[in-house]
Amino acid sequence: MVNKLKHIGIFTSGGDAPGMNAALFAVAKTVESYGIKLSGIRRGFEGLIDNDLIPLNCRQLQRIMHLGGTLLKTARSDRFMTALGQQKALRTIQKNNLDALIAIGGDGTFRGMLSLANISNTPFIGIPGTIDNDITGTDYTLGFDSAVNTAIKCIDNIRDTAESHNRVFLVEVMGRDSGYIGIYSGLSCGADSILIPESDEDITYLLNKIKNYDSEDAFIVVVAEGDALRVEEVMSQIRIVNPHIELRVAKLGHIQRGGNPSAQDRMLGIRLGVLATTALIEGESGKIAGFCNNKPSLSPIEGVVKKHLVDTELKRLLTLFCG
Ligand code: F6P
Repeated sequence: MVNKLKHIGIFTSGGDAPGMNAALFAVAKTVESYGIKLSGIRRGFEGLIDNDLIPLNCRQLQRIMHLGGTLLKTARSDRFMTALGQQKALRTIQKNNLDALIAIGGDGTFRGMLSLANISNTPFIGIPGTIDNDITGTDYTLGFDSAVNTAIKCIDNIRDTAESHNRVFLVEVMGRDSGYIGIYSGLSCGADSILIPESDEDITYLLNKIKNYDSEDAFIVVVAEGDALRVEEVMSQIRIVNPHIELRVAKLGHIQRGGNPSAQDRMLGIRLGVLATTALIEGESGKIAGFCNNKPSLSPIEGVVKKHLVDTELKRLLTLFCG
């Protein structure tokens, strides 16, 4: 069944992620082919509350689809958590005759859409966009691959200097409560140790290895920011088992969120944008567009806002390479 949508609103929300602009372009391209109007809502739920809408066109987005960040800007909105904020957002939807919404973001964004669904029947589809890769209903979220590639470049650079000085480096990567960036970047850089929230044994592996470390080459430890032990605590534990080593810390921080999206993320943005828009036009709502086993998939939003944990196969790799 093809819906008679005339006007779709789209926004990006939560942390920006490389590939968001590619997804915006793909949505614009799809709606254009159906003759549907597309409006961009700036700064996520904040723009929905403040009636901050701009027209979007395909040509404009085509020229910036290769850039990181998001043309629509983004925000984490405390106001949308209040009943007043949600009522204002509803008024914006009504005032602009928005027939449907597409929300690009992470679990916070999708929880927001669930709250909106309690007071509005406006159909919506979510596109998972977060570097953390912590959303179920898709194998990969938009921005994850680019963030890992950025982390890898940084860790490779750190290795050059670490090898020259025979130093131990602790490199903190992002990911919130998820160890995906940690395990992907750590394994891809030949890290000696990787600490992620999903593993309890990783600290034991690290301390066993480092107590016999003889300072004859580099020793790289990748620590996911969500690990139970913070970098400072890991440093103290290392100093107890091996007090004589030269230790340095590098926190990669927001560097991981910026930069042009990788080919993988551009393609994911294009595929998710088309999938989400087509689904809306065909009458779907309340779902997240994703790719599972490289196949398009639409999952009910209620089920997907849970955590996507580093699985057993990856944890086996951690034991093999770092144990
Ligand atoms: O969710 C993406 C993310 O970059 C996390 O990895 C990180 O913990 C958080 O956002 C940082 O948030 P902010 O940009 O608000 O400091």
